[in-house]
Amino acid sequence: MIVESSARMPLVRPRRLRRNAVVRGLVREHRVDVDHLVAPVFVAERTADAGPVPSMPGVARFPVDGAVDEARQLFGLGVKSVLLFGIPARKDAIASSAYDPNGVVQTAIRAIKSALPEMTVVADVCNCEYTDHGHCGVLDSKGEVDNDASVELLVRTAVTYAEAGVDVVAPSDMMDGRVEAIRRALDARGATDVAILAYSAKYASAFYGPFRDAAGSTPQFGDRRSYQMDPSNAREALREIALDIAEGADLVMVKPALPYLDVVRAARDAFDVPIAVYNVSGEYAMIKAAVANGWLDGERAVDEVLTSFVRAGADVVITYFAKEYAARHA
Ligand code: PBG
Repeated sequence: MIVESSARMPLVRPRRLRRNAVVRGLVREHRVDVDHLVAPVFVAERTADAGPVPSMPGVARFPVDGAVDEARQLFGLGVKSVLLFGIPARKDAIASSAYDPNGVVQTAIRAIKSALPEMTVVADVCNCEYTDHGHCGVLDSKGEVDNDASVELLVRTAVTYAEAGVDVVAPSDMMDGRVEAIRRALDARGATDVAILAYSAKYASAFYGPFRDAAGSTPQFGDRRSYQMDPSNAREALREIALDIAEGADLVMVKPALPYLDVVRAARDAFDVPIAVYNVSGEYAMIKAAVANGWLDGERAVDEVLTSFVRAGADVVITYFAKEYAARHA
């Protein structure tokens, strides 16, 4: 009897290393370090535009002084990098408010850097929040997004951010050649220390919906498929990333995060630069909605999701969960 049952006993038992929390901690392969989190912050030029974002419970648009307070709280919790988005008072066809030296993002950069010099301030560089038509570039006579004319505006914006004291500029427009154009313009003005975080593999995704509510940047006609990537393509993502690295990107990004973890892994294996993922608004909203309905344990779900990014190979994680994660793990 004994011989018979021991013959069926497994020799190798992975469960031995799952027996208690200490052993599990000992063999844990990946951890989410608060040092690697970046918190997006929306800054509104008009106080009338400030306030909670309905589709993103827990996220708000702040006036400049509120953004400084938010940055201070984040810094105190150990989240020492923020990614700024602006909601300007005025929009027009050529996104003038984006490259106004006294625009909302430029003002917020100055305010945050003066209050918290050690905070890493990253600023999103794009036209979509600043154009009246909501596209990420300027339109040509046929109503199509003109690549090279759009790049000129992005360069102007990046330069004004650098003059305001930004640490990192993050072009999110997906125009061709913008990384090199921005790098050359920054260098020509002596802003050699300003790094570029390129939204390199940015997909035309349904998961940006809540962000577009928050930033008021929904295209007024058409969609972004002529510049953002087709969700079906993975090889193309590596090509986009390789191009941005060749053009001088210091960090590259895959966005959104959860539906593209295969791309994060492939990029990690193929390149040596730091890789960022953007856990976007729709990914945040899904979890918040499920938690509000009592369908998910939010804390466990957030920990699991953030861990998946690190496990897939991301170095930098941009997430609306940064503050609550840091507060829980402080
Ligand atoms: C601007 C931009 C977008 C996001 C970041 N930068 C929106 C878009 O491309 O439509 C999305 C961020 C999010 O959904 O959290 N182009």
